[in-house]
Amino acid sequence: MGFYVDQIAPRIMDRACGSRSIESWRRRTTEGLQGDIVEIGFGSGHNLPFYPLEVHQVFAVEPSATALRIAERRVNRSTTIVTSIGRRGESLALNDESCDGAICTFTLCSVADPGAVVGEIHRVLRRGASLHFLEHGIAPDASVARWQQRLDPWQGRLADGCHLTRDAVAVIGARDFEVEVLDRRYANGPKPWSYFTVGRATKR
Ligand SMILES: C[S@@+](CC[C@H](N)C(=O)[O-])C[C@H]1O[C@@H](n2cnc3c(N)ncnc32)[C@H](O)[C@@H]1O
Repeated sequence: MGFYVDQIAPRIMDRACGSRSIESWRRRTTEGLQGDIVEIGFGSGHNLPFYPLEVHQVFAVEPSATALRIAERRVNRSTTIVTSIGRRGESLALNDESCDGAICTFTLCSVADPGAVVGEIHRVLRRGASLHFLEHGIAPDASVARWQQRLDPWQGRLADGCHLTRDAVAVIGARDFEVEVLDRRYANGPKPWSYFTVGRATKR
């Protein structure tokens, strides 16, 4: 499993997350970000081309050295400063209320402890600042949700801990955030993987 998780899974993730059909979702998610932001699950840097010019610096949190290596060419091409600040979103090396924004895309599905990650994001955001999120998750249709439950253990093994059955809105809403759902529907692709939510969660 070591070689697969370290070398193969990040490359599969880079391909899957780099699909052109996701670009409009990323554009919508990154709209309005500005200043110094933290990105949890930076991966291979697919959000970088979509950051508004107003984003000054990205504090990147990413456990995979391979993903960060793949990200290098996107980082080198970008005008946004990228500073790697650690591996785990559950424990951020940032001061309280030090960020103007936060973003996670297709990451709350994969982290070991999504509640702890959202708690850390809340801690480092300034009051009134927002977490911008784009996540796939549990579908509203019972038949799709049943397939997601069945496939979940396989998905976890093949996609390095990714779950099909999480509900990002519920996880984020359990913290002291005002959550606004901007778009929530099936994207292109097989339904168990493609029930997407774009939203903003503003720190109260
Ligand atoms: C499906 S990929 C998404 C990558 C990127 N956000 C994107 O949209 O292309 C999920 C990412 O979350 C990272 N990840 C997994 N556990 C994490 C954790 N505890 N803290 C931060 N990132 C984590 C993985 O290494 C992977 O790069």
